[in-house]
Amino acid sequence: MIRYFLIATYCATALFAGAQAPRKTIAQRVDSVMKLMTLEEKIGQLNQYSGDWSHTGPITADGDKQTQIRNGQLGSMLNVVGVEHTRMLQEQAMKSRLKIPLLFGQDVIHGFRTTFPIPLAQACSWDTDEIERAERIAGTESSAYGIHWAFSPMVDIARDARWGRVMEGSGEDPYLGSKIAAARVRGFQGKGLGNTDAVMACVKHYAAYGAAVGGRDYNDVDMSDLSLWQYYLPPFKAAADAGAASFMTSFNALNGIPATGNRYLLRDILRKLWKYTGIVVSDWGAIGEMINHGFVADGKEAAKAALDAGCDIDMESRSYKNHLTELARNKKIKAGLIDEAVARVLTKKFELGLFDDPFRFCNQAREKSQENVQAHKDAARSLSRKSIVLLKNENNLLPLSKKTKTVAFIGPFAKSVRDNLGFWSMEWPDDTATIVTQWQGIRQALSPESQLLYAEGCHINDQDSSGFAQAVSTAEQADVVILSVGEARDMSGEAKSRSNIQLPGVQEQLIKAIHATGKPVVLLINAGRPLVFTWASDNITAIVYTWWLGSEAGHAIADVLFGDYNPSGKITMSFPRSGGQVPIYYNYRNTGRPAPNDSTLFYVSGYIDLLHSPRYPFGYGIGYSPFQYSGFTLSKSSLRKGKDSFSASVTVTNTGRYDGEETVQLYLRDHTASVARPVKELIQYRKVWLKSGESKTIVFMVDEKQCRFYNQQLAYISEPGKFTLFVGGNSRDVMETTFELVQ
Ligand code: BGC
Repeated sequence: MIRYFLIATYCATALFAGAQAPRKTIAQRVDSVMKLMTLEEKIGQLNQYSGDWSHTGPITADGDKQTQIRNGQLGSMLNVVGVEHTRMLQEQAMKSRLKIPLLFGQDVIHGFRTTFPIPLAQACSWDTDEIERAERIAGTESSAYGIHWAFSPMVDIARDARWGRVMEGSGEDPYLGSKIAAARVRGFQGKGLGNTDAVMACVKHYAAYGAAVGGRDYNDVDMSDLSLWQYYLPPFKAAADAGAASFMTSFNALNGIPATGNRYLLRDILRKLWKYTGIVVSDWGAIGEMINHGFVADGKEAAKAALDAGCDIDMESRSYKNHLTELARNKKIKAGLIDEAVARVLTKKFELGLFDDPFRFCNQAREKSQENVQAHKDAARSLSRKSIVLLKNENNLLPLSKKTKTVAFIGPFAKSVRDNLGFWSMEWPDDTATIVTQWQGIRQALSPESQLLYAEGCHINDQDSSGFAQAVSTAEQADVVILSVGEARDMSGEAKSRSNIQLPGVQEQLIKAIHATGKPVVLLINAGRPLVFTWASDNITAIVYTWWLGSEAGHAIADVLFGDYNPSGKITMSFPRSGGQVPIYYNYRNTGRPAPNDSTLFYVSGYIDLLHSPRYPFGYGIGYSPFQYSGFTLSKSSLRKGKDSFSASVTVTNTGRYDGEETVQLYLRDHTASVARPVKELIQYRKVWLKSGESKTIVFMVDEKQCRFYNQQLAYISEPGKFTLFVGGNSRDVMETTFELVQ
């Protein structure tokens, strides 16, 4: 008892003193805490539970969590939100022998109090500054609610729209995905851990989760090293280089080895090659799930495999808690592995300042100050309108006049509230009062003299067409129809794979019925993934892909429809013509029998019942003014290895009536190399604002580094030969010119 008291006193002094004594480095402080820890307490730091308020995975109940906290058996939690809850649990941690503070993590995927567009939509803005700002806001808001750790960004490359989690990432391109990954990390971590508005980023899901076979969530991944390194790893590396505080393992097995027990991924690449020093946490239950994978026989083997591989924290599987002590006592795990993992966890707790003040994220006034912040809503509105993609606008139907006499607003999304938010949004009691619905946004923007008529037409996902007649008669009374359709917010997201990626329910029939009235129709498509809507693409005059835009959806949509904002979004996943065409992506390696054009069928690589190209190509999106590209020239046509570079210039002219922003995209093709190279790869892009009639010359600097790729030995090199550069407003409609790379 006396001994316990002395230890506790010493410990409290060691942990919280510091004012007079010269400040030790974090490494020294970690070391002095670890010297006091028992094996069980160390293992406690590697154990993470979900709180009891909400769950984002299968629930494992195992008794009283608070007692376990007081016993030092828990190091971190997720799904505990708010100053009151986090304070209450942190107080329990302060009753533990060593008073080591808890970490609170949360899925902060597209905003926190303020809901931003889903990440895939945000990516369509190609605007890394705005994306960083969105995450800065999410970091500020969530940290004020007691959160230290955002389980974000999700940087999985995704090519298969059947996979519901495409909504969480940035799409199919590794270059753009890397830029966005780094921006998100900067946004969450702000001026650095230790500031009370900075939260740790968590890069997930490492790795190759997006390539699940058949687009079926959690499914197996079988992938060549070339694809892994060329397409799937770059955003993870970019996020690590940006200083991300943590990584999360993925659920899938990669080439037979579950990612959570995968030494190649976790030790060889992440730790050794990339010299990554942050925390690695498993995904929910993923350590225990290695039993189902057939990789280990039981929880004990699972714990050993995960720790050996380099996974520091066990989220929710209890394998570490139940087995590491015995494994360590019987010397079944390498000495030092537990200590290394614990040191990484404690280091982050020190960096966050939690040892100095465990309650520094528990400030009620700060929490209150983050409710309904107008500046945050303004940022959400700005990013939302930049996320919207205009796919089609025949006869310049858009923008609409605010003075249109009668507008019919039809469809299940017209007055829907929470469907605007998307799968990973948080729910708040005052949500319904703060979300701007599409109806509200459009009503506010329209002149008070204009009539806005409403009919729901049908629900999102059932077979009931009894509302069609009323919808048709409403359309008939109007000068123009806005028709808002799509997926409900729980139709894309985790465990939301779909085999049929068309509009659900009877929505396509509703579109046909409204179109048959002969009225001009503006179609809004709300979804978490690229959908297939072939009939509408062929027949409807104007199509606006709105994704799920978040709290400011209504304002952002109205801004675009009425021309207060000239749409500038460009899709970051290729849109297929049919579900049978996925996975589909622009940066594919050529076959030996490429189709010379879209409809050639004779012994070429394609489908006999479908055009070869995607419905809308990667990078595509139009605005209210066309942009014309001219004079694509290189300052020289050959490039030497080393410091050599040349400029590639192109003049872009806004030939329309509206000022607007264009995303100028530069692609490269390496014609011959020791491994087959993609037919096009994005290597740079530039966003440019052009007034009506204005021209600007955009200059890209190109050097040998941009010609590099992973060869068969996985060396990142370039090889001499012919290259083509392409420039344009999307990956299909491009100007091109060639250059030679010489030794
Ligand atoms: C998801 C992760 C998430 C975790 C915690 C898992 O099911 O795959 O992305 O961070 O749950 O909610």
